[in-house]
Amino acid sequence: MSQRQAAHPIDPQFTDRWSPRAFTGEAIAADALLGLLEAARWAPSASNIQPARFLFGHAGTPAFATILDGLVPFNQGWAGKASALVVVLSKTSSVAPGQTEAKANVWHAFDAGAAWMSLALQAHLKGYITHAMGGFDGDKLRAALNVPADVAIHAVVAVGKQGDKASLPEGLQARELPNDRLPLAQLAAEGAWSF
Ligand SMILES: Cc1cc2nc3c(=O)[nH]c(=O)nc-3n(C[C@H](O)[C@H](O)[C@H](O)COP(=O)(O)O)c2cc1C
Repeated sequence: MSQRQAAHPIDPQFTDRWSPRAFTGEAIAADALLGLLEAARWAPSASNIQPARFLFGHAGTPAFATILDGLVPFNQGWAGKASALVVVLSKTSSVAPGQTEAKANVWHAFDAGAAWMSLALQAHLKGYITHAMGGFDGDKLRAALNVPADVAIHAVVAVGKQGDKASLPEGLQARELPNDRLPLAQLAAEGAWSF
């Protein structure tokens, strides 16, 4: 199925997962979406602080409309046919056990990234597609969703079933393909930085 070639043997889930923009628009059952978020819940985090948070809306609900409204117009052009939109956030500080004052958690973003990837891979395993978006208006989403100041908004993830690329605006149809990656030698080196 995948046109992507791994340079070393890996499970096909890693190359088969990609981020289409064509969605069918069909509904996703509440349990099915919670199953994807459950996978994110089990992601590792520094000191098991679990800073990642998720705000979601099912298609056709006011929550979905609010999140969609917070996306940049380019993303609104295709993400409106997703089955659900999931905002990925993280708490930037935490109170350690036995302490009373919150301290900055410098790993909050790293941990939120791990959690979103768990969601994406679980979705792929269950036959759903996901597409992360950094193209959103953070101030608008923060106000509309009542997100506290010490919580970072990282991305909005469109979740659903893959649709026909003919349903996309013309400019996007040509881009509806899995892309490639840099060679591993440009990403990983033994010992000191040598890139
Ligand atoms: C944090 C993040 C932000 C992204 N923002 C957008 C976006 O705003 N709009 C969009 O169409 N794709 C967006 N993408 C999708 C990336 O372009 C895509 O994941 C990347 O090209 C790799 O392709 P693949 O996911 O199909 O493997 C984003 C992905 C990530 C992880």
